[in-house]
Amino acid sequence: MINGTNRPRKLAVMGGAYGNLAALEKCVADAAEMHADLKAFTGDSIGCCGHSNEVVAMIRDGFDLFVAGNHEQQAVAGSKSCGCGYSSAEDEKISCEAFELATSGLSDEARGFLATWPNEQIIELEGGRVLLCHGSPGYTSEFLYEAELDDLRLEAWLDRFDVRCFVCTHSGLPFVRRLADGRFAVNCGVVGKPDHDGDPAVHYAFIDLPATGEPSIEIRRISYDQEGWARKMESAGISPVFVEPVRTGVWTTGVASLPASERFRWLRTSMTQRTDWRPEFLDPNHWRRTLADFRALGLVSDAEIEEALSLLDPAFPFFAQLRVADSVHLHVKVDNVDDLPFSEIVALGTQAENARPGYIKYPFPGGINLIFSSIPIAEEDQLSEPRPSKPFVDHFGIDLRRETGLVRALFEDTPSVARRAGWPSKSQGGGGRQVFCCHSTVAEKYWVYPPPKGSRWTRPLEFAYGPLEISQEMNGGDLRPIDPRHPAAGSFACPPPAH
Ligand SMILES: [Fe+2]
Ligand SMILES: [Fe+2]
Repeated sequence: MINGTNRPRKLAVMGGAYGNLAALEKCVADAAEMHADLKAFTGDSIGCCGHSNEVVAMIRDGFDLFVAGNHEQQAVAGSKSCGCGYSSAEDEKISCEAFELATSGLSDEARGFLATWPNEQIIELEGGRVLLCHGSPGYTSEFLYEAELDDLRLEAWLDRFDVRCFVCTHSGLPFVRRLADGRFAVNCGVVGKPDHDGDPAVHYAFIDLPATGEPSIEIRRISYDQEGWARKMESAGISPVFVEPVRTGVWTTGVASLPASERFRWLRTSMTQRTDWRPEFLDPNHWRRTLADFRALGLVSDAEIEEALSLLDPAFPFFAQLRVADSVHLHVKVDNVDDLPFSEIVALGTQAENARPGYIKYPFPGGINLIFSSIPIAEEDQLSEPRPSKPFVDHFGIDLRRETGLVRALFEDTPSVARRAGWPSKSQGGGGRQVFCCHSTVAEKYWVYPPPKGSRWTRPLEFAYGPLEISQEMNGGDLRPIDPRHPAAGSFACPPPAH
């Protein structure tokens, strides 16, 4: 207690420990060095890092004020679900796995302590009243993102609770929002995982609210031994999906549920000075070698090779998607698949995959696959107008096979990236309307078509999400949609279903 008001002035607020003992310890030590008068923990003590009883004990010893998060509420209720409220089903599933890990060994004593935490509370500092909450004032599981927080809503909350500010957590993305009248809102971030910006550091909020003068509101960025902690998680048998973000600072899950404005935080390099912007699984050297071999067999041209390689250029509008792709295929139209030089191709170090009449696929190292077909595969094949002379590359296919939150988010962003870059796009399969036109609900795809002139990219691109669907291009139903700008584009649509 600092002066005549007998009230504290400096408040440290932490949330979202998720069992990360190493990070929490470092943050608590930092708050002590900063001479915090009070330390508040605003929920989600337990989670994907396991170590639940230890983290609850550390919080009981290290903090003065507690607010329940969704993890505490659900653990106390004996629920199997984390109650995070993710909008993406993939995110919710993985998050619930983490929650099961967190609660399976939770002691009755720890659970009893968590049951005493209120859903929110107000603390009076020298410079005003502060509301501590988990998601948003009044809503434990609401994700508050700065880009979506309007000032009118913020003012209404502050009026309702008669406070100068509120501090929340839950989303994992810290921010400070100040109003013109001196009131403000803070998301303290989380101490248990980084904020998806490619830097493994974690965050908490430090607020100095003096009786007079300007308040100081700071998001503290705390580095710790994340590698040591990641190894501890591994030796406790915790899944790589939870360990990887601790190491890399990039989320593997929760990304599809973020607003579009926040999904790409990790691609801003200012925090990390990362220069290794090469694709994760695609290797240009292998591509060059394989494509040169097919050039020698007369099956691809120099221009097609150049266009394939230009997909790996960071200037390519869909580079973020290429960066996480498992493989890319060139779909080459030939007069007759049966006339291919099979033994020469196999001598290049491959085995045919998915060979069917009029269709064959050859996978190669470095994530480059060649598909040859002589059956109709595109809507253009049903028109009478001439197509290029064969062989020619009909399209490039980008395979986004891993069903992680990050890959899902990048897949979902494909049409909006296309729109901004001036490429038309079309969805196929999944929940899209076009599913009526197809024989079956196959893999979810987006097709994008390059701008008409002056582009290095001239062919349609196929973005396919999810594990390989063997049947997808063989049943004759799922033709590649024609460029939506083509005059015949409307003529392939199925009639609307009968009423
Ligand atoms: Fe939460
Ligand atoms: Fe394809």
